[in-house]
Amino acid sequence: MPKTLITGGTIVTAADMYKADVLIDGEKIAAIGTGLKVAGAKRIDASRMYVIPGGIDVHTHMELPFGGTMASDDFETGTTAAAFGGTTTIVDFAVQGFGEPLETARDLWLKKARGKAVVDYGLHMIVRDVSDQVLREMETMVGDGISSFKLFMAYPGVFMVDDAAIFKALVRSAEIGGLICMHAENGGVIDVLVKKALAAKHTEPKWHALTRPPEAEGEATGRAFALAEMAGGVPLYIVHLSAAQALEQVRLFRDRGLPAYAETCPQYLFLSYDNYEEPGFDGAKYVMSPPLREKWHQDELWKGLQRNDLQVVSTDHCPFCMKEGFRGLPKQKELGRGDFSKIPNGAPGVETRMALLFDGGVAQGRITASRWVELTATTPAKIMGLFPRKGTLAVGSDADIVLWDPKATQTLSAKTHHMRVDYNPYEGRKVKGRATTVLSRGEVIVADGKFLGKTGRGKFLKRGRPILQR
Ligand code: URP
Ligand code: ZN
Ligand code: ZN
Repeated sequence: MPKTLITGGTIVTAADMYKADVLIDGEKIAAIGTGLKVAGAKRIDASRMYVIPGGIDVHTHMELPFGGTMASDDFETGTTAAAFGGTTTIVDFAVQGFGEPLETARDLWLKKARGKAVVDYGLHMIVRDVSDQVLREMETMVGDGISSFKLFMAYPGVFMVDDAAIFKALVRSAEIGGLICMHAENGGVIDVLVKKALAAKHTEPKWHALTRPPEAEGEATGRAFALAEMAGGVPLYIVHLSAAQALEQVRLFRDRGLPAYAETCPQYLFLSYDNYEEPGFDGAKYVMSPPLREKWHQDELWKGLQRNDLQVVSTDHCPFCMKEGFRGLPKQKELGRGDFSKIPNGAPGVETRMALLFDGGVAQGRITASRWVELTATTPAKIMGLFPRKGTLAVGSDADIVLWDPKATQTLSAKTHHMRVDYNPYEGRKVKGRATTVLSRGEVIVADGKFLGKTGRGKFLKRGRPILQR
């Protein structure tokens, strides 16, 4: 591969913002400096652009089987959309089948991704039954670079595990250098509320939210951290945190010096319960778990991001179409018409994360550009064992680089997005900032609105131990 020189841009990392050129040799960053001159190098002009490390989305579900259907993006369509949005690494969730070895899920997800992904990808493992055998297999997974395990405190009979199982897995994660990621909602209470609502003939999508109160998330979050403390002060990472009550628990445990971490997602920063009141069945677009909350939670989440009680913004990208037959896909959200509890849980977002957070965060003065990079690339790379290969611009790091135009505006829409789903939760929203050129390991894969990469070029990332900072 010839050398590439990115000239005249403003480098933005989690630590700094300065004008410099970046030299790429093969797949790696070879030099960063001013006035770099390299004979024969291909030049990319980055004047007026921010030059940032490619975004890292550590929470995606490509082709996730859920509620009798599958998430509509596969590794090809989903990672292509990610690239268009400025994300060059994803970490997706493999799912253990009941009673099956973790190796089976690992192999199945590698098969789904190989030959399809266009950006690099890692895997977490969703553990559904915490047997002695599985506790042993967790070590093999860590050795294979699948160093994080998601457990669910919700979805009884589908994903939920009990406190004893969580406790055992936490203890084991500390022994083997893995990280437990928790879906924290009180599934038992929610189940009772769902049954009660259905018995009262409440079937519309909004009842998904009304039966999953924020207190159920707060309680489960506090319980999860208490279990981690009892396990000896084990690190714990809460996924898709949506509610002030849950954030309060994160803050409490962090203030006590415990290794408590959490991510939130754009949907919880920009959408709210009001979306469930959209006419007809449109509220189904926003059926996800945890659900969207009342608007006032958003301010609390922004405070959490500003004060580092929330360290990561991921997407929980898990799209399901509203209409049957879109690009040949089967019935998805429609499965729950007439019964909100049958609406597949999840929404699209892998393409829109970087722009939404830039617009709502940097452009509106809530966070700095460096904090934006830290939340969307650097800390995700550190916590998920990818740093410094990914997540920063440094000599020796992978040349995953995005040229970001901070002045450009774009209108988010299903008409123009690349995700394989027939709606966009942010339809019509005008946002500032856009990825104009995207490089993955030195190769330009998106430029001027065109995809230039090759299907299947993405590589599996063997992740290392988490780097956990306060
Ligand atoms: O609604 C959601 N979040 N769907 C994906 C599965 C999960 O819990 O992350
Ligand atoms: Zn979850
Ligand atoms: Zn998820």
